[in-house]
Amino acid sequence: MYAAFRSIGSYVPSKILSNADLEKMVDTSDEWIFKRTGIKERRIAAIDETTSDMGVNAAKQAIERSGINPSDIDMVVCATISPDYFCMPSTAAIIATKLGLEKVTAFDLSAACTGFVYALGVAKAFIESGMKKNVLIIGAEKLSAITDYTDRGTCILFGDGAGAALISATTDKSEAIIDIHTGSDGSYADLLMSPNGGSGSVHDDLEASACFMKMKGNETFKVAVRTLTSDVVAILEENKIDASAVKHFVPHQANYRIIKAVGDALNMKEEQVVLTVEKYGNTSGASIPMAINDIYESGRLQNGELMLLDAFGGGLTWGSALVPFAGKGI
Ligand code: UT7
Repeated sequence: MYAAFRSIGSYVPSKILSNADLEKMVDTSDEWIFKRTGIKERRIAAIDETTSDMGVNAAKQAIERSGINPSDIDMVVCATISPDYFCMPSTAAIIATKLGLEKVTAFDLSAACTGFVYALGVAKAFIESGMKKNVLIIGAEKLSAITDYTDRGTCILFGDGAGAALISATTDKSEAIIDIHTGSDGSYADLLMSPNGGSGSVHDDLEASACFMKMKGNETFKVAVRTLTSDVVAILEENKIDASAVKHFVPHQANYRIIKAVGDALNMKEEQVVLTVEKYGNTSGASIPMAINDIYESGRLQNGELMLLDAFGGGLTWGSALVPFAGKGI
């Protein structure tokens, strides 16, 4: 049994936070943000709009486009660092119930911006082992809820949104997800973290800012470029696939300069590289499925085309995946 990437869906909130808006909030400029990150604007969820609400909207689209009967879905995995509730219940369980999926296995996965690639790996493993047949994976983030809007080093980067994909069992090897790499190195934990609120916290009281993200941006940037480049080179080499055979290089949308550096190292042509960072910023676990949805909805993603996914995030974690699109293009 193989695992096939059947469909994609996405959701973005309607409210836009532009660089001009941020200029009024912190000491920054549109010019600095765009030059250093490639970001122009990001989306912000409504106060009463939760991560699960966004995940449900993305999931509904993915399910509909897959042609799979919702009652045949037997597992839901949600990659998020901004769950509806920290600890419990899982956002995946809430999403499953909101979708009317009964008694499915549902759990959240914490791998920050690499979450979607990790979730893809989990889905592949469950399907190939024969334990599950149709796995709904979701990357959903309300990062605005854990962003410190007085910290110009982070608040210019992050946005909200969700993406979802249906991964299904197939006996057709040509549809199969080819390979997935995932890795981590906790010795870099302090580069990007939400330091307060957990059992490792030094605070004995929970403040409103308990979960705000803190990042050593420049150090993270350098490790990201180094790790991503070696990881994507390795997954291509191990599978004897030339970068030119990749139709869509779909990197985590953290910073245009990181994407460009990794793309250049692989000699990727401009038309191979999928970019959404300008309009959505960094949406952590949601960024890769949102980017895949972008090429799907613009009619650029067709059945059988090879995608190379790559991501990097807090943990530190990283991952890459070679994935043929096994759905129908539009
Ligand atoms: O998604 C998960 C992984 N996360 C990432 O991959 C993010 C990686 N990091 C980055 O994207 C970049 O490091 C940032 C965009 C966060 C920062 O860009 P940078 O080129 O690394 O800038 P820097 O931190 O080295 O700072 C350069 C200067 C500093 O001023 P001085 O010391 O040179 O006077 C900063 O204080 O830019 C200043 N600065 C800003 N200026 C205007 C930092 N943030 C801002 C800002 N607006 N928002």
